[in-house]
Amino acid sequence: MVPMSAPGDAVKTPVKVHIVTIFPEFFNGPFDCGPTRIAREKGLLEINLVNPRDFTTDAHRTVDDYPFGGGAGMVMKPEPIFLAVESVRTPASRVILLSPQGERFNQDTAHRFKQLPHLILICGRYKGVDERVRTMLIDEEVSIGDYVLAGGEAAAVVIVEAIARLLPGAVGDEDSVATDSFAQGLLDAPVYTRPREFRGATVPEVLFSGNHAAVATWRRQQALLATARRRPDLLQKATLTPLDREFLQKTLGKEASNGSQNEK
Ligand code: ADE
Repeated sequence: MVPMSAPGDAVKTPVKVHIVTIFPEFFNGPFDCGPTRIAREKGLLEINLVNPRDFTTDAHRTVDDYPFGGGAGMVMKPEPIFLAVESVRTPASRVILLSPQGERFNQDTAHRFKQLPHLILICGRYKGVDERVRTMLIDEEVSIGDYVLAGGEAAAVVIVEAIARLLPGAVGDEDSVATDSFAQGLLDAPVYTRPREFRGATVPEVLFSGNHAAVATWRRQQALLATARRRPDLLQKATLTPLDREFLQKTLGKEASNGSQNEK
């Protein structure tokens, strides 16, 4: 097991993560920048790597084998994964298999995971892991999207970073997390900074008005529009006020009758 935590001024029990991986070198770097580094340095997050190869007994440190019944690709053997997990598991652990067959990871999952004291993330490789890992070892199976990665390592980085930035103190401006995309079930409104005009494109006037209520209304409406155009599935689940609905109906109705296209 390789500790990846830096000593920090821990004030509360950190979220502990163990990543079970046969490629520990994959993680050289991604946890050393941004909110993940800050969370680790502040003692809010502790990340450790466990290599199933360290739990093999043969000279080649074999972690994979041919599939029974034939077929393409190698399968990760159960014993090294079981032993790796059992070497770090406690009654408080949640054991998660990362695979394209899992439940889709989203912002709600990140919020749920940040409450857990100990996550064990198992990174599959090759054709997959022996089914006994799925049926006897894990608590849940998670996918980061409908595509197949070479292994769960990139998924582990995604999940850890999504959790890290939710830990109070990991992101400089807490408000920035509160207004994130998905925070209110909607995509984020557009943001602008200087210069006021860039290559002929100007910043919306309302943002210079000094009228906080008008800015808030504009942001809400832009978030509603972006979500309606790009992710209508999210809009179905979001909590909308009667004013939100009226705005959407008016604006989208107008767009439809003008024959305008959705944003690219
Ligand atoms: N391993 C391979 N593909 C994956 C995916 N989409 N999500 C999580 N783990 C994976």
